[in-house]
Amino acid sequence: MSKLKVCVVCGGKSAEHEVSLLSANSVLQNLDPERYDIHTVGISRSGQWYIYEQQAILHADDPKQVCLNPEGIPITVDLRPESSFLVAVKGDAKKRNAVRPDILFPVLHGPFGEDGTIQGLFEMANMAYVGTGVAGSAMAMDKVVTKQLLAINDLPTADFLYCVAGKNDQQAYNWDLLTSKLGSDLFVKPANLGSSVGISHVQRQDDLKSAIDLAFSYDNKILIEKAVRGREFVCGLIGNLKPEVTRPGEIITTHDFFDYNAKYIEDKALEFVVPAALAEAIQTEIQDVFARAYEALNLTGLARIDGFLEAETNRILINEANTMPGFTATSLFAKTWQAQGVSYSQLLDRIIKLGFEQHQRAQRLRC
Ligand SMILES: Nc1ncnc2c1ncn2[C@@H]1O[C@H](COP(=O)(O)OP(=O)(O)O)[C@@H](O)[C@H]1O
Ligand SMILES: [Mg+2]
Repeated sequence: MSKLKVCVVCGGKSAEHEVSLLSANSVLQNLDPERYDIHTVGISRSGQWYIYEQQAILHADDPKQVCLNPEGIPITVDLRPESSFLVAVKGDAKKRNAVRPDILFPVLHGPFGEDGTIQGLFEMANMAYVGTGVAGSAMAMDKVVTKQLLAINDLPTADFLYCVAGKNDQQAYNWDLLTSKLGSDLFVKPANLGSSVGISHVQRQDDLKSAIDLAFSYDNKILIEKAVRGREFVCGLIGNLKPEVTRPGEIITTHDFFDYNAKYIEDKALEFVVPAALAEAIQTEIQDVFARAYEALNLTGLARIDGFLEAETNRILINEANTMPGFTATSLFAKTWQAQGVSYSQLLDRIIKLGFEQHQRAQRLRC
């Protein structure tokens, strides 16, 4: 049987460029070479695409230094149906880039990778790809839209307000207004980002301005949320029509919250307990609520859904859905599945298969 041509796409024009390279490095190391013919495309911070004959990612064991190898061959995409999709910008199309991948695997986080934009490009080219489609990616990327969609499906999230630059941004700086609606323990976030970039925990009026300025420096839409007191959980989910959900794992951090450093830089800042120490009934309820969120948000392929168990009320509040969660072999997503008996390589096989199935389902439709 011929091998499946899988093309891992990594890097990208987002603040999570490095996180993507760390994730992609693990994916590349764990895809079974007996089963897959593996190709790599790197997207630079400025948006140039490169294809790699050899190693695409440098300094992959050091999150502070990780970067794309500058030796890649510049390519562009060709949307014609019979084209190889990835073509060299100059000169002869080299042997490797003349191959049309069977499936693309966007190991990209944040805007331009996890938000439906690159998925739209793949759809335009009629290419199969791993993960959620255009609408689900866009909805899950935007934390405000996520919360609105969950709310209409009776799935609670923390109380919040949102502000749009040039429209009602002044409200975001109005401490009295915010505290009258949400109390004085707040989280400020850009609407469309991840990895805790641009997020601040604000408990004093003096800290509000810099937090709002920071969030607005990443996005024109920001949200201000009531801080939840309680425990934080994540589940791994995979599936197209109905997701399979892992048992919840608990995030316990020595930091004030699960910030960028706790996620990627400091080894000892996070304890992840999976399966979490929870009564069976609560565990099942979290799985059920997260599965409903997956369906409400139109997700396919895979996602990691995160939420809180509020101490005072015992309510399950969904925090967010990550359609391409941090994806190293030691990521929370991989660990939730390992605890379930599914290895990282098996996980890769399964989500690739789900990507094909989703593509085949779309092929049956009339244009
Ligand atoms: N409303 C909240 N209450 C308490 N903690 C929060 C709240 N919102 C976010 N956090 C903390 O901040 C972290 C990052 O926020 P999150 O919304 O998940 O953003 P990102 O998409 O960047 O991961 C969460 O994992 C959690 O630890
Ligand atoms: Mg998060």
